[in-house]
Amino acid sequence: MARKKIALIGGGQIGGVLAQLIAQKELADVVMFDIVEDLPQGKTLDIAEASRIDRTDVVLKGTNEYKDIDGADLVIITAGVPRKPGMSRDDLLDTNAKIMKSVAEGVKEHAPNSIVIIISNPLDAMVTLFQKVTGFPHQRVMGQAGVLDSSRFATFIAWELDVSVQDVNAMVLGGHGDTMVPLTRYANVNGIPVMEMLERKYGDAAKAKEVMDAMVQRTKMAGGEVVKLLKTGSAFYSPAAAAVSMATSILKDQKRLMPASAYLQGEFGVNGYYVGVPVVLGENGVERVVELSLNDEERAALDKSIKAVEGLVEDMKRLGY
Ligand code: APR
Repeated sequence: MARKKIALIGGGQIGGVLAQLIAQKELADVVMFDIVEDLPQGKTLDIAEASRIDRTDVVLKGTNEYKDIDGADLVIITAGVPRKPGMSRDDLLDTNAKIMKSVAEGVKEHAPNSIVIIISNPLDAMVTLFQKVTGFPHQRVMGQAGVLDSSRFATFIAWELDVSVQDVNAMVLGGHGDTMVPLTRYANVNGIPVMEMLERKYGDAAKAKEVMDAMVQRTKMAGGEVVKLLKTGSAFYSPAAAAVSMATSILKDQKRLMPASAYLQGEFGVNGYYVGVPVVLGENGVERVVELSLNDEERAALDKSIKAVEGLVEDMKRLGY
């Protein structure tokens, strides 16, 4: 069987961890593209020199030329600038839209049949722009946000309930911004509702709700919490891990159900926008969107989040993209 090829567009913090994880898991050969001369060559050389230690066989190449991504099965895009303390993801719109447009043109020309996962922020707007410029089928263009936001939520739940994070299932929907929607009602520990475990722990429904609300709030602000601590950039280990889990489901046709920024055509009552929703990821990319029932409160929160995404897309149009 021919080896798969992943092109990484952007060889910065997230790009570097992506390359290392893909190599360590032997998921595919890697081509890392960046506009900075020598940077992708240096990173891929460094990672390749660890192959003997890890006992892996993956070909890694760094490049400053788009032609080297020819034949990529999957493209993961992190090109763009990250946040600095005090910035919201939306503050990156102008700068990153310009970068995303040029990236989309390069990918369209050199990897026209690839499936594309975008990580650059503001996420839902960047996915929208990439798809618009390339004209790729919506099914082949998606954004990574929900897997990470959900993992953050699950982490806080695991710490609170003192259980392994492996047993926590929690999902976050909506746009990848401060209005994201952690689904508290569906969160569970191997099937046991988290709310029930909190009520038993505290013996008091009001206190349980207060604790859950705090975890929801921390989840929404979790990216900013890391930015504030790092001071020079944003999270990079966890976004890379999240994108690799999506890439694995696609390249191995696992059909895992994960939240991702996907194009909605009527699902969840939304038409024509990329928003974070549960999807099944397989060899064709987003194979389907999975709907679920929402109560009034969840519906209102999702509507607010969708409005925020719509606003961002409008801003982007005003900027001429
Ligand atoms: N084409 C390709 N690469 C580019 C371009 C471009 N036009 N413009 C910038 N880059 C590269 C930079 O040279 C840099 O190496 O993108 C890389 C971005 O890396 P970092 O600055 O380290 O940022 P990172 O932490 O990896 O985050 C990237 O993901 O989570 C989001 O908000 C984050 O938008 C940011 C993106």
